[in-house]
Amino acid sequence: MKEIVVLENVTKKYGNRVAIQDISVSFEEGKITGFLGLNGAGKTTTMKIITTYFKPNSGKVYVDSLDVSENPYRVRKLMGYLPENFPIYDNLTILDFLRFVALAKDVEEVDKEVERVIELVGIKDYKNRFLRELSKGYKQRVGIAQAIIGNPKVIILDEPTQGLDPAQIIEIRKLIKDLSHDKTIILSTHIMQEVEAICDNVAIIHKGRIKMSGKIQELKAKTQNQLTVEYLFDQLDENKKEKVKNLIQEFGLDPVFDTNSIRINIKRDEEEKVKEINKKFYDNGLYFLYVNRNALTMENLFLEAIKE
Ligand SMILES: Nc1ncnc2c1ncn2[C@@H]1O[C@H](COP(=O)(O)OP(=O)(O)OP(=O)(O)O)[C@@H](O)[C@H]1O
Ligand SMILES: [Mg+2]
Repeated sequence: MKEIVVLENVTKKYGNRVAIQDISVSFEEGKITGFLGLNGAGKTTTMKIITTYFKPNSGKVYVDSLDVSENPYRVRKLMGYLPENFPIYDNLTILDFLRFVALAKDVEEVDKEVERVIELVGIKDYKNRFLRELSKGYKQRVGIAQAIIGNPKVIILDEPTQGLDPAQIIEIRKLIKDLSHDKTIILSTHIMQEVEAICDNVAIIHKGRIKMSGKIQELKAKTQNQLTVEYLFDQLDENKKEKVKNLIQEFGLDPVFDTNSIRINIKRDEEEKVKEINKKFYDNGLYFLYVNRNALTMENLFLEAIKE
């Protein structure tokens, strides 16, 4: 196993605002890693740093063992990038646009390379169409095509399925999966299901900090021997929340609060505790409306990772 993209203690500020704070995270060669986080978490900023678009205020970034700050041009050659809100040149045809990109990337056999990527992303029948005539899903394919021109080792896709309809989402996911044979792919998303559907690994970022990273399979295994127990209350004011929290913590557990409900993750073999918690709630006048028991989902694991 080789880590091909490595960030060490990277901080990036916009003016006084810290966008990412002292993050250390690495991405495994030949795998698809989902870079997961809510809006504003710092995904795009991190990606822009990896692609050399931004310099970090502090910290180190390595791509394929090259220090990005010392070798920005060599690093760019190793990478393909689909930015968020991919800017599209409406008045060009697919073919002309991709030729332009190939020339800009200094690709050797331009026509051959353009044909290759057009074939790969499945836009052959559209190659003479103007970009303005394409549906969003096809524009996104063109975006992916331009990212993979020149056969880069590392492909960075910033929310590649954002704004697509469900059918297109499935197609784009399949395309990314197909591309991944011999490539390292880092894709950002705020949807855990997307990560589950196509990624090998995940890194979770929240408010500019890495909260969790690892292999999907290992996380899945972790979910298998856990349960989520959810209590719905009539209402939960701050005072009640505090009481609930203290009570749950007596059991060595840590609740996640929603508006009027709480969620606790427990091990399957600790299920007996639930009875005791129920009783404690009642004994303390914390009457809940109902309690629900579910298998722990990856989504809940994500919410758990980013709780305050
Ligand atoms: N050009 C900028 N100038 C000032 N602040 C910025 C700029 N770009 C991003 N930020 C701030 O940095 C933080 C991280 O933003 P970033 O775009 O990296 O998040 P993100 O995870 O990509 O979010 P989204 O899911 O909405 O794309 C946010 O607080 C954002 O407001
Ligand atoms: Mg973003």
